[in-house]
Amino acid sequence: MAFINRKPLPSISLLYPCSTMAVKGLYLLLAIALTFIVVFDFSTAYDRPPAGKPLFVSNDRDSTSPQQVHISLVGEDKIRVTWISEDPTPATVRYDTSPEPDTVYYYQCGLNSSPVFSFKTPPTQFPIKFAIVGDLGQTDWTNSTLQHVSKSNYNVFLLPGDLSYADTEQPLWDSFGMVVEPLASQRPWMVTQGNHEIEKISAIHEDTFTAYNARWHMPFEESGSASNLYYSFEVFGVHVIMLGSYTDFGAGSEQYKWLQSDLGKVDRTKTPWLVVLLHAPWYNSNYAHQGESESIDMKEAMEDLLYGARVDVVFAGHVHAYERFTRVYKGDANDCAPAYITIGDGGNRNGLASKFIDPQPQISIFREASFGHGELEVVNATHAMWAWHRNHDDESVISDTFWLRNLAFVSASQA
Ligand SMILES: [Fe+2]
Repeated sequence: MAFINRKPLPSISLLYPCSTMAVKGLYLLLAIALTFIVVFDFSTAYDRPPAGKPLFVSNDRDSTSPQQVHISLVGEDKIRVTWISEDPTPATVRYDTSPEPDTVYYYQCGLNSSPVFSFKTPPTQFPIKFAIVGDLGQTDWTNSTLQHVSKSNYNVFLLPGDLSYADTEQPLWDSFGMVVEPLASQRPWMVTQGNHEIEKISAIHEDTFTAYNARWHMPFEESGSASNLYYSFEVFGVHVIMLGSYTDFGAGSEQYKWLQSDLGKVDRTKTPWLVVLLHAPWYNSNYAHQGESESIDMKEAMEDLLYGARVDVVFAGHVHAYERFTRVYKGDANDCAPAYITIGDGGNRNGLASKFIDPQPQISIFREASFGHGELEVVNATHAMWAWHRNHDDESVISDTFWLRNLAFVSASQA
């Protein structure tokens, strides 16, 4: 396949005319469930084909064995190991030696009798490969997607929101932890939240994101954020920002001020690539999820920040389909702006968002309502290859690819 050629294609090595800066234990009550559907699901606007059959994985280990093991990056040279056990176990992790980059390590959590897992640390040189999947859920489509991802030799998994679709039914969080454990125990999984993580029950449980924050603790403290709902992290050559679509994002909000500060600290000579993930897409030509505040108002508030910082690409979920936009700023193609990609097709229980608005906007390059996953392989400081893999029955079929040219490099080359 064409994707096998890992060298940048000369034909797309164009210099973009960038002239400015930037090298710088609750079950959901039915009534509440209906409330969620009314507020967040615009499914009446389109017909979805049948969803995948739900998966539910029970814990078959003893009560002191770790379950739902997953790892995440925590600042430079550190990895957090997270697990759950039915009975208390020692909060210890045994591993064989001090971690080195790009190396497989074996580790054991809790008691000596616990299962042995292994993980691979990210490399400290290019190439770096990210697997990116939104709206993962837990259905047989989820299973297909994860099987395809597992064969991709990725380094870090990125999930732009909507994980378990538990929607306050806590055993589904446990099941989700078991569904993803085979992959999430082996590579860092970095996630941000979607609407299905809110889990607020009026007059019963007013707090939001309780289970998400407890189960998927991301490195917000290390990135100067006051909330697990937005944070950043770095792997070699790449600064990744995870934003929260369902927490305050307006100018002057804590998240806005944190984003300003975080962007100000990015050193493009150290991390040439600047990648952003969020849940509700800012650009979307699907009938699903049109007109939502989390898309329109968040874009209005924050687009200038991302544009000014020369963000390379923005990934979103929420819409259960795949769509790739060209570089866009304020609705128009702009060679100095981020490319926008919706990758909300992981395998959720609601099925696909199959109706797109016609005619296809000029800024929308490729769109298709199929389950699948994406891979972003950062080849070097100037070029990265994006590939969208459609789940074609049991096969993973590369259906959309393009070379992404680093905006910081372009700006520097024209200085
Ligand atoms: Fe969503």
